[in-house]
Amino acid sequence: MPERQPEFLVEENDGVTRAAALLKRGALVALPTETVYGLAADARNDAACAMIFEAKGRPRFNPLIVHLVSISQVSQIAELSPVARDLAQAFWPGALTLVLPLKPGHGLSPLVTAGMDSVAIRLPAHPTARAVLQAFGGPVAAPSANPSGRISPTTAAHVAEGLGDRVAAVLDAGPCAVGVESTILAPSEAGTRLLREGGLPREAIEPLTGPLIVDTTPGRIEAPGQLSRHYAPSVPVTLNSALDDASAVRVGFTKADGGDLYLSHSGDLVEAAAALFHVLHLADAMACAGQKSAIHVAPVPETGLGRAINDRLRRAAAP
Ligand code: TXA
Ligand code: MG
Repeated sequence: MPERQPEFLVEENDGVTRAAALLKRGALVALPTETVYGLAADARNDAACAMIFEAKGRPRFNPLIVHLVSISQVSQIAELSPVARDLAQAFWPGALTLVLPLKPGHGLSPLVTAGMDSVAIRLPAHPTARAVLQAFGGPVAAPSANPSGRISPTTAAHVAEGLGDRVAAVLDAGPCAVGVESTILAPSEAGTRLLREGGLPREAIEPLTGPLIVDTTPGRIEAPGQLSRHYAPSVPVTLNSALDDASAVRVGFTKADGGDLYLSHSGDLVEAAAALFHVLHLADAMACAGQKSAIHVAPVPETGLGRAINDRLRRAAAP
C-alpha cells in the first residue's frame, strides 16, 4: 500500500461539493460509478487530463470516456444518429458507452479524444456520480482508477491501494454494483460495432440494434481495455481450471466448485460480475501473503455478463 493516502470523501459529509470543487480546480478525484471507480478530471482542462495518464502510468495517450448527466449535454458535444438516440434512450443512464462523432466547438481537451473525430460518452447511473456531474456542470473524463494494466477498482480502498496520493481525493460510496466496465458500442449506418464487452450484456442490446459487429480484437484499438494483457494480478492466472492444484490460489465460479474464493454463491452472473475484481484483488493478496505462485480460476459460462467476465479473465491471464 502506498504510504501517502488521498483525501477520503463521503456524500454525507459534503463529499459531492468537495469533489466538484476539486475537479473545477483541475485536480484528480476518484468517483464511484455503478461499473468501477473512475479517475476523474475536467475533460476541458488539458493539464488535468494529462495528469490522468501520469497517475495511471498509461503508456500513451489513449482516448478517455467522457461522463455526462443528460442527453441534452451529449448533443452539445456529439452527433446522435437515430440508432444512437434509441440506444441512449433505452440504456442511459447505465453501463453503456457510445462512441459518437464529435461536433465542432465541443471544447474537449484533445487528450480526451486522442485527436480523433469521435468521442466515447457515458451517462453513469450511480446517484453519487450523477450528483458530482450535476454539481460540476461540465464533461468529466474518467478511465478506471487503477494503475495501467492492473486490476480495476470496485472499492475506494482498491483506489487508494493502487494510486495513493496520485489522486487528490476518493469519494467513497461503497462497492460498485455492476463491477465490470461499461459495454462500448460504436453505432453507424452500416451497423453497430461492439468494441468492448461490459456491464450491459449483448443479449439486451441486439433486440434494438440487430446483430452486433464484434470488434473487440485485442490490440486493434490501442487502448488499455483492448490490450491482450490487462486487469492483471502479480502472479500468473490460469483459466478453466479444475481447481485441483493446492499450490495456487483457487477461484471457483460458484461455492460448489470448491475453491479458496468464489465469484458467486450459487452461480448468478450478475453477482459474479460485481465480485470479479474484488475477488482478483483478494486472490492476488492471498498469493503474495501465502507465497502461492499462481491463481487458478474455474470456468465461467459464456452468456450474458459471463462474456464480460471471461473477457476480463482472458486479459488477466494473457502472457
Ligand atoms: O465503466 C467504464 O467504462 C469506466 C467507468 C469509470 O466509467 N471507464 C472506463 O474507461 O473503463 P477506460 O478509459 O478504462 O476505457 C476507455 C475505453 C478505451 O479502452 C477505448 O477502447 C474506448 O474507451 N474509447 C474511448 N474513446 C474512444 C473512441 N473515440 N473510439 C473508440 N474507442 C474509444
Ligand atoms: Mg481500465
